[in-house]
Amino acid sequence: TERKFFVGGNWKMNGNKASIDVIVNNLNTADLSPETEVVVSPPACYLDYTSSRVDKKKIGVAAQNCYKAEKGAFTGDISPAMIKDNGCEWVILGHSERRHVFGESDQLIGEKVAFALSQGLSIIPCVGEKLEEREAGLTEEVVFRQTKAIADNVKDWSKVVIAYEPVWAIGTGKVATPAQAQEIHQRLRTWLSEKVNPAVAQNVRILYGGSVNAANCKELGTQPDIDGFLVGGASLKPEFVDIINARR
Ligand code: G3H
Repeated sequence: TERKFFVGGNWKMNGNKASIDVIVNNLNTADLSPETEVVVSPPACYLDYTSSRVDKKKIGVAAQNCYKAEKGAFTGDISPAMIKDNGCEWVILGHSERRHVFGESDQLIGEKVAFALSQGLSIIPCVGEKLEEREAGLTEEVVFRQTKAIADNVKDWSKVVIAYEPVWAIGTGKVATPAQAQEIHQRLRTWLSEKVNPAVAQNVRILYGGSVNAANCKELGTQPDIDGFLVGGASLKPEFVDIINARR
């Protein structure tokens, strides 16, 4: 396939300027595969700090969330314009922690998708089932419902990288097997082919997220429908470089 491998590092609510210095210096000087598109995602208050320090030729920067309005009385939130003003090109939307810790709905995430794209950001919308949903046989129903709420709001798919993150695998050390992940990625791609169109399904990158590390990334990364990773915990560590280079 011609889909460029993509590895995102979602730092979540971790770190400080000193630890960001260590991570960024490591990435800037590392031998990163030019075959991989790399994006890191710091907390909102460190977007400028991070984007002004990463080597922009090799590394993009994503916000972890944003609101669906340009500006106004939305205490605690940030807008796509602010993300761009801080030198960043990307935003993660609908991460499982936004959905399940902060109660974001499919509807709200869809509105954020539409607005962030309209403002010129590229987006990493996230989908994924909870353990009880998987055990009840509802994985596809949940993933397709979440994806529909996103897809209905996308016009330009070249700005979209989807992340499939089964909630039971996030931060648990309980990674999906390569076969489990490949199965859902393949079904999601088929869904996109049927509900959006075959060209989008062929070209859009679908990332796997959930307990990815240096030890498991190679086997996951060679599955035909896994086009990269959204990495949490391991993106704070030097092994993030090994994940970026998983296909080497
Ligand atoms: O966005 C990243 C995912 O939530 C995965 O987190 O690698 O710590 O399991 P994790």
